[in-house]
Amino acid sequence: MAFFGKNVVAFLLMTTLFGVSIGAVYKVGDSAGWTAMGSVDYKKWASTKNFHVGDEIVFIYNNQFHNVKEVTHQDFQSCNATSPMATYTTGSDSITLKNHGHHYFLCGIPGHCEARQKIDIMVTPVSQRPSASPNYPSLPSASSTLTAPSPALNRASSLQFNNLLWALVPLALLAVGF
Ligand SMILES: *[C@@H]1O[C@H](CO)[C@@H](O)[C@H](O)[C@H]1NC(C)=O
Repeated sequence: MAFFGKNVVAFLLMTTLFGVSIGAVYKVGDSAGWTAMGSVDYKKWASTKNFHVGDEIVFIYNNQFHNVKEVTHQDFQSCNATSPMATYTTGSDSITLKNHGHHYFLCGIPGHCEARQKIDIMVTPVSQRPSASPNYPSLPSASSTLTAPSPALNRASSLQFNNLLWALVPLALLAVGF
């Protein structure tokens, strides 16, 4: 029982440490930030990212002209900002992604969402992480299944490379006139 309890504490400690402090940080829209000028295709921007629980997204904007509202899927589709689940107005809003699944954000200033100042952040569950990434170490239970293929792959390719070298030796000997 004591052993079990200690493991649970260690597990919680690790999830807290890794989940909170080692997640990636993404600046929404990169250098353009959070804008309605049409200079950023947020759908495309989000599609190039691989968000995970514990990652952080940061909205940077002038809060005289914009804000950030987290809304339901339906309100996201219809650009309805009247009943947001959360509202951010500092102009430098860091939001930690705590759950997997879709997170919908839009600018609540009239007309901005329609001008495509809206973003769908799809957070992938940890178990679907394609490979171990340096900024988010997997927990021991997950890492054995996730990282196992890569060393094997490396071994296989170096083996192939060695075979290739040996196959080239006779050719090289022929070439020098042996
Ligand atoms: C926006 O959402 C609110 C609350 O869900 C709803 O009462 C309202 O009718 C919606 N407005 C539009 C224009 O769809």
